[in-house]
Amino acid sequence: MLEVAAIDVYYGRSHVLQGVSLTVRAGEVVVLLGRNGAGKTTTFRAIMGLTPPRRGTITFENKTITHLPPHAIVRAGLGLAPSGRRLFGALTVAENLALAEQPGGPWTRERVFALFPKLAELASRHAAFISGGEQQMLKIARALLSQPRLLLLDEPTEGLAPVVVRELGGWLKGMREEGLSILMAEQNARFALALADRGYVMEKGRILHEGAASELLTAPELAVHLAVGSRPSLAKTD
Ligand SMILES: Nc1ncnc2c1ncn2[C@@H]1O[C@H](COP(=O)(O)OP(=O)(O)O)[C@@H](O)[C@H]1O
Ligand SMILES: [Mg+2]
Repeated sequence: MLEVAAIDVYYGRSHVLQGVSLTVRAGEVVVLLGRNGAGKTTTFRAIMGLTPPRRGTITFENKTITHLPPHAIVRAGLGLAPSGRRLFGALTVAENLALAEQPGGPWTRERVFALFPKLAELASRHAAFISGGEQQMLKIARALLSQPRLLLLDEPTEGLAPVVVRELGGWLKGMREEGLSILMAEQNARFALALADRGYVMEKGRILHEGAASELLTAPELAVHLAVGSRPSLAKTD
């Protein structure tokens, strides 16, 4: 479905991604793991056309999207729920959703509200005044309304309380049952690997390892990169 082949991405003269390759097959949940600064967000920006690669190719459903503008990549069927607080805080929840909504696909406002009933209750609230978990929901809902077949989730557990992280796991399972493919970047390896089919471990702009989620969870040599071996990793501390 998605094939990233040996991409090199630069910020100015800084060579950030060095020959990154990864694939997502239709129906899969794939996780990109790695510590802060490893290059996860840059990989997503490259896929979405926000920071195009200088070398290498990206294909989606057999179409080369490497140098398409971001809006064309969204139209091709890729959606991104970015990390951080990328919402229009001065707008209401309903207005945020209306801006993202694309007709002609399976995701309507009604279906998004069925998946996230809390958002329906908050529809007239300004996005700046909803909780971190609710903002995460809104970012995912916005991405779904652009009718993606592959959803990119950048650090969905960031800043969420453990109880909300568990809830997020339930939403993601629901979305997967709807037939959506998911590529997720996460520092919370335990959370991500419990949901994923496969994973990649990234460090310093390179892919260090690829494997089945079950294998990555137990690979001792990866514990240092994933921080899955110790209990404090369950809650993100930074
Ligand atoms: N806009 C930018 N300009 C220059 N360097 C950047 C920029 N954004 C990120 N970087 C650098 O690129 C590297 C990868 O960052 P990023 O992709 O955000 O990692 P991650 O998402 O895994 O935390 C880091 O060294 C970071 O400092
Ligand atoms: Mg990031």
